[in-house]
Amino acid sequence: MMKKVILGGVLLAATSASAMPFEKPEDAIHYRQSAFSMIATNFGDMADMVKGRKDWDQAKFSQRALFVSQLTMMPGEAFEMKGSDKGETKARPEIWSDWDGFSAKLNQFQTDMANLAKVSAEGDQRATMKAFGVAAKNCKSCHSDYKHR
Ligand code: HEC
Repeated sequence: MMKKVILGGVLLAATSASAMPFEKPEDAIHYRQSAFSMIATNFGDMADMVKGRKDWDQAKFSQRALFVSQLTMMPGEAFEMKGSDKGETKARPEIWSDWDGFSAKLNQFQTDMANLAKVSAEGDQRATMKAFGVAAKNCKSCHSDYKHR
């Protein structure tokens, strides 16, 4: 049976495990954790600039925002991998029992990060900081419902 899932404006045809780039559930878990780890490193550097712990560098900030924006497109399909709810994962079962709710949070994250990438590329520091504040809310908002601590 063909199930269509919309993730960040990309239409993915989720058919069976064979449509996935992963062979085993562990591969999907490792992949999504890697994406989040890269998101966190890039996001942390932006946060340091926003909080004044590092000098402001608009070009660097804009590049990191673009990286994170693209990285937000990656974890989605890894959560679709069958069996990836078990094992070395901090993903909570609510992701699968409330898939629509989880997808909505992921979509919001993608939207806000795409906006941050766009705004920061336009070069206005004040507007960039404001868009960063909006994007930063997504981490906790999703983790509190869908990720074990
Ligand atoms: C739509 C939900 C969602 C959003 C938004 C989200 N995360 Fe996560 N994040 C998760 C889930 C679920 C996991 C657990 C993945 C696993 O262990 O399989 C996770 C894991 C992580 C991890 C651990 C990765 C590892 O190495 O195990 C870090 C770090 C992280 N997120 C940082 C962030 C940051 C920073 C943001 C915001 C910029 C963010 N996340 C936004 C859902 C989200």
